[in-house]
Amino acid sequence: MTKRALITGITGQDGSYLAELLLSKGYEVHGLIRRASTFNTSRIDHLYVDPHLPGAKLFLHYGDLSDGARLVTLLAGIDPDEVYNLAAQSHVRVSFDEPEHTADTTGTGTIRMLEAVRLSGIKTRFYQASSSELYGATPPPQNEDTPFYPRSPYAAAKLYSYWITKNYREAYDMFAVNGILFNHESPRRGETFVTRKITRAVAAIKAGVQDYVYMGNLDAVRDWGYAPEYVEGMWRMLQADAPDDYVLATGVGITVREFLEIAFDRVGLNWEDHVRFDERYLRPTEVDALIGDNTRARTKLGWKPTVDGRELARLMVDADVEALEHAGRPWIDRVQLDSWRTPTAVAPVTA
Ligand code: NAP
Ligand code: GDD
Repeated sequence: MTKRALITGITGQDGSYLAELLLSKGYEVHGLIRRASTFNTSRIDHLYVDPHLPGAKLFLHYGDLSDGARLVTLLAGIDPDEVYNLAAQSHVRVSFDEPEHTADTTGTGTIRMLEAVRLSGIKTRFYQASSSELYGATPPPQNEDTPFYPRSPYAAAKLYSYWITKNYREAYDMFAVNGILFNHESPRRGETFVTRKITRAVAAIKAGVQDYVYMGNLDAVRDWGYAPEYVEGMWRMLQADAPDDYVLATGVGITVREFLEIAFDRVGLNWEDHVRFDERYLRPTEVDALIGDNTRARTKLGWKPTVDGRELARLMVDADVEALEHAGRPWIDRVQLDSWRTPTAVAPVTA
């Protein structure tokens, strides 16, 4: 029997890798996408097959986590075996600018999804994209038993989602799990998260397109892993015999400063010559250090990460250098090349 999955947030970094993984396993994959005035599907375009053709296995549906009635109709119509709730306003710094919108999407959006499962009466397994941001001010190492102390509107909204997922598991006997994922990155990472901001800047500086990149707190420590390995962990959580919550992390923490050093070094540049401070990139409350203990996922799911933050920095720089060389071919006009400048040309001021 072909398994059917629904992914919210399929156009995001994780959604695109998860769709690839599930299609490679023979799943029929349904994705929720937001209607936009331009196409917003660039991360999954390579997976698209005209749904009129026989053999098509990827189907996209318009919807939004703010629209509960739509979610009920969709769930009832698709009747998926597995639901992966990845959609969210996922940027921590932006959540201080847009706290109410973040609560509505990243927090209340989860209860709308859980209610849609319950009210549509379908039997499905449910994955909730929880986050190491929940630990906030609690020092590392962090595992599933570590107390939470959220430090942003984003983390507070994810905390609600964590507990409501657990509550639906206990109240309605749902197979609902929280994946408490530490930072994970890739060449598909959004351009305003720190790793991608750095690796795009390195490529642009090396190519002579820009001179400096403006950064915030370089002392923060993060446990950065590789996104394709983390979506494999999500899938494993839904294949387990019983629902539980799991940390996915590499166990290796490095500072933003070290990530900068490795990334610039990859192209033969000294980071200190090209990095400038801008207080706009600081957060009102910061999460100083996240380093995860993945023992439960390793022992119960057999999940094992192989790429840590140092290797990731090199991998992402190589990908952005190659992408910029491609974008910079003579027939591409200046406007497109300008989009490689960070952060002033494309990124909002606070990201
Ligand atoms: P991402 O690249 O920012 O993708 C977020 C996705 O959510 C996009 O597809 C976005 O659609 C969609 N979305 C946003 N608001 C929506 C709404 N109101 N209705 C429907 N869809 C909406 O995030 P990611 O890095 O893939 O992360 C996936 C999930 O894991 C997120 O929930 C994130 O908070 C969580 N998480 C991520 C990490 C990490 O390090 N990456 C770690 C822990 C947890 P558009 O493309 O239209 O914007
Ligand atoms: N974005 C950004 N831009 N971050 C900067 C900058 C900058 O110019 N300068 C320093 N930083 C620091 C931030 O202050 C933070 O301590 C660290 O770099 C990482 O920032 P982000 O890459 O924006 O990620 P995050 O850790 O805040 O949140 C990500 O990981 C969470 C899991 O721990 C997001 O993917 C969240 O959605 C996810 O839940």
